[in-house]
Amino acid sequence: MEQPTNRVFSGVQPTGNLHLGNYLGAIRNFVGLQETHECIYCVVDMHAITVWQDPKELAHNTREVAAAYIAAGVDAEKQVIFNQSKVSAHGELTWVLNCVARMGWLNRMTQFKEKAGKNRENASVGLYDYPVLMAADILAYRATHVPVGDDQKQHLELARDIAQKFNNDFAAFGGEEFFPLPEPLIMGAATRVMSLRDGSKKMSKSDPSDMSRITLTDSADDIAKKIRKARTDPEPLPSELEGLKERAEADNLVGIYAALADMTKEAVLQEHGGSQFSSFKPALAELANEKLSPITGEMARLMEDTAYIDSVLKSGGERADAIAQPILAKVKEIVGFV
Ligand code: TRP
Repeated sequence: MEQPTNRVFSGVQPTGNLHLGNYLGAIRNFVGLQETHECIYCVVDMHAITVWQDPKELAHNTREVAAAYIAAGVDAEKQVIFNQSKVSAHGELTWVLNCVARMGWLNRMTQFKEKAGKNRENASVGLYDYPVLMAADILAYRATHVPVGDDQKQHLELARDIAQKFNNDFAAFGGEEFFPLPEPLIMGAATRVMSLRDGSKKMSKSDPSDMSRITLTDSADDIAKKIRKARTDPEPLPSELEGLKERAEADNLVGIYAALADMTKEAVLQEHGGSQFSSFKPALAELANEKLSPITGEMARLMEDTAYIDSVLKSGGERADAIAQPILAKVKEIVGFV
């Protein structure tokens, strides 16, 4: 079985409220990678149900993430776009990897601790096992590179540990170097988009305030309003990066501007240093609309054509399955399943 050297796998959860942070921090980067890599982009519906999802909304949100991939510019024919539950290898490989991963490793996962909160006894077993499913996602394709944000670095480390332990445990049975250790692709500078209401918190789909985030279903008016009302301080923008220290909200808006314009923050400050927010915010709103409206418009159009989205997911699922099945078959042989 040949091992590709440049296979990318990544996933986004269909849990609603896709926002600017998801776009700038993940989806936009998926587009550039297709020039140089073979890309598999997954809508991870099996991860989503680790916390309860309304079935109708899950289906809608699954199509919406697929629409976002396509609208952002992922080529659905050249690359693979599909939803996780279509390919049984994810679940099957998870079981084998569950038996490789150690309790002690999972007990260190900070995301589980945060998501489960105080009431850990009531968290689903799936939420605890979430990182093993994520490892299976990547390893089922023997992917070599994984674009991830900061918050997923620990999970990717775990995937590497699991791959390595599998390779060691079964070294004498064909497992030696069977799984490549997936490398993180850390994404561009301004990928941490913060809440518009509180510059110390990440922009999040679960923030109760809709004003805290720009979503990919917002209209131009919504976007302008959210930026106009974004929290700021009374000072004008500084001309140097240094001047953004201790000014989380100003830093965030400059970072968003830089990411959307494909500039450095320094360059943004050279242009806008000395401006009041009363003039910077309208400039940012205009830029945001210029960059986002082609994507949000195309997403809205695609969401009217669910037959097309479903056909993309079906074809992607078949192609993903064709890659994963021989790998899974080999895993079964290695561990001694007759
Ligand atoms: N856990 C990731 C997130 O919430 C999504 C994800 C699932 C993923 N499987 C993956 C990302 C595999 C990269 C590779 O952001």
